[in-house]
Amino acid sequence: MHPALATNLLGIDLATPVLLAAGTAGVLDEMGQQLDLSRVGAVVTKSITPEPREGNAPWRVHPTPTGMLNAVGLANPGLDKFLDEHAPRIVAMPCPVIGSIAGFCIDDFVTVAGAFDALDAMPAVELNVSCPNVHAAGDFASTPELLGELTTAVRKTLSRTKLIVKLPPITTPAPHSCVDLARAAIDAGADALTLCNTTPALMIDVRTRRPVLGAGSGGLSGPAVHAPVVKIVHDVYRQVAADRGIPIIALGGVVNWKDAAEFVLAGASAVAVGTTLFADPRAPVKIAKGLDKWTRSQGASRPADLVGTLAQ
Ligand SMILES: Cc1cc2nc3c(=O)[nH]c(=O)nc-3n(C[C@H](O)[C@H](O)[C@H](O)COP(=O)(O)O)c2cc1C
Repeated sequence: MHPALATNLLGIDLATPVLLAAGTAGVLDEMGQQLDLSRVGAVVTKSITPEPREGNAPWRVHPTPTGMLNAVGLANPGLDKFLDEHAPRIVAMPCPVIGSIAGFCIDDFVTVAGAFDALDAMPAVELNVSCPNVHAAGDFASTPELLGELTTAVRKTLSRTKLIVKLPPITTPAPHSCVDLARAAIDAGADALTLCNTTPALMIDVRTRRPVLGAGSGGLSGPAVHAPVVKIVHDVYRQVAADRGIPIIALGGVVNWKDAAEFVLAGASAVAVGTTLFADPRAPVKIAKGLDKWTRSQGASRPADLVGTLAQ
């Protein structure tokens, strides 16, 4: 990739600022069959829980005119199998790996985070604090206090690994906003934020009068969520992250370089691609190339120079 795309995020060297989003690129390295992983910034793993999970009953995904509804239900191999069968391959991967973690109680997160930290193969972990399609899961983003408690507990567990907290897209100001959650996560020791997870959503088959997904409601992703997340990134960057020097990884409906550039202008230091990978696995490379051209067309030498430079 073009050297100008090289990005340093939390001290981690990335070939480009374009990452593969948690849960959309297999458990670990499966996308390497479709895409040269040396040309992406990092892979974020499937969210790993202490125990293996089969996930929700079908259907788990449903297309929408502007994205995808999913209720996969955190299907994953569980911590032991991930450590035994997947993690040994990390060392051979040509890009950094960020370990995504999910759980049903604070101890679940602490257990997986401790194991990832001890592994010393992944420079950062990302906490999936509110999965919209696992209804039994604790929603650790339901209040800033609970999020702070979780973040503090994981922070204490990590000796060398950076801590990224991934927030849900709360767009309404009451009872608390994404900015409140971001502040709580940062106060509790988050090194970076990922914005945002999918948007809770429901689609109904009007003939059967049943939800289209086996789990009922699910999480919406893709272009439908892009503009609302740009606003969240902008708000979090301006109101809390920029002053505290906390980088933002933005995702939600990145289809092309323009979507990525919008996130950069709104305040993101890196972006991730999820739903788009299902249609075009090579999209992250195209997006990175487009970002590079755009950066130079703006008279800047690297995307980092344009972070948060939205003209008001
Ligand atoms: C099929 C599918 C599975 C997902 N699994 C996870 C997951 O395991 N952990 C997580 O943090 N996010 C998960 N996500 C959310 C994505 O990482 C991302 O936050 C969201 O899809 C928005 O980005 P996009 O519009 O580019 O897809 C999943 C999304 C999809 C579509």
